[in-house]
Amino acid sequence: MTLNIAIAGTGWFSKVHANILNKMGGVSIKAFVGTSLEKAERAAQEYSSAKAYANFEQMLDEVKPDAVYICVPPYAHGEMENLLIERGIPFLVEKPLGAEMEIPRKILNGVQQSGLITSVGYHFRYSDAAVRAAEMLQGRKIGMALGCWMGDMPQVSWWRKQEGSGGQFIEQTTHMVDLLRRLLGEVDEVYAAYAHRAMKEMHEGVTVHDVGTVTMKLKSGAVATVSNTCILPEAGQVGLCIYTEQGTVDIRADRLIIGDRGKMTEFRNAGSPYERENEAFIHAVRTGDRSGILSSYEDAVRTMEVTWAAWRSAESGMPVKVGG
Ligand SMILES: NC(=O)c1ccc[n+]([C@@H]2O[C@H](COP(=O)([O-])OP(=O)(O)OC[C@H]3O[C@@H](n4cnc5c(N)ncnc54)[C@H](O)[C@@H]3O)[C@@H](O)[C@H]2O)c1
Repeated sequence: MTLNIAIAGTGWFSKVHANILNKMGGVSIKAFVGTSLEKAERAAQEYSSAKAYANFEQMLDEVKPDAVYICVPPYAHGEMENLLIERGIPFLVEKPLGAEMEIPRKILNGVQQSGLITSVGYHFRYSDAAVRAAEMLQGRKIGMALGCWMGDMPQVSWWRKQEGSGGQFIEQTTHMVDLLRRLLGEVDEVYAAYAHRAMKEMHEGVTVHDVGTVTMKLKSGAVATVSNTCILPEAGQVGLCIYTEQGTVDIRADRLIIGDRGKMTEFRNAGSPYERENEAFIHAVRTGDRSGILSSYEDAVRTMEVTWAAWRSAESGMPVKVGG
């Protein structure tokens, strides 16, 4: 049976998913929905089966997709997810779930009540490095972790506005927080310090902080610090290093570096985590078997609760309990 897929969003990442789906057997991209018909037409013209829409609900009525990909900026979430929940249509949504916490918490209610199949774009979970790291950590005592997302400022206009993206920690560094939860368990309390250093003066309309560091107490008793900056002129270091009594487990975007009592071994990623994420979701929609989905909406809300608590801590200058 061919699965009919619709994609909301006409930007960079909708194309990344569309190109993966386009190569899969038994999947047909039937629609793109954009903020204008013109943008949707531009996106759709590259995929012969796809029609263009400027209205999400009209698309649902006409196309009746088997599943929808939501690849829109953080500020644009809410209405689409609610319509999909009402109609019982599974969705894969890109991280983060919103620019603030109210909308994801409401959507979570609907997802839980409907029992809908969902997947969230935390692709690091599907990487060889993260999968092997989980295995290597079995039997080791985890002391602490240091994570970072050091880079430049994305050029899209919504990213630099607090209400558009939620800021770097919510929008980007969320990947490291999610990896931390996956490998070390839940976070109990956070203390964050954010600042504006250069980007506000260099570019017009910047309201997001450009440096930040977040200290976390985990339920296990371990501690962690995850820092980020978008002040650099180009992409820099991204990763999560876990410190254990036997040595380090260092996860990078393209590899894993294991330290074992002074001996270092490097494992390069082989497959694409994005392809695995897409395959797991499509398999779940086709068969009902969700076991391959490594990040559901329910789970991703818990990651968002941590990054949201960090924002509230940075604003108040006080430690904040996660989920409070
Ligand atoms: N998992 C990853 O590695 C990864 C990488 C890049 C981006 N992303 C995420 O994907 C999302 C989109 O990022 P992007 O880089 O594609 O951004 P982008 O700015 O290139 O594209 C966003 C698109 O969404 C459209 N849009 C906005 N509101 C809409 C609405 N209500 N209905 C339909 N379309 C709407 C915009 O017109 C634009 O075409 C972000 O949340 C981002 O964090 C994830």
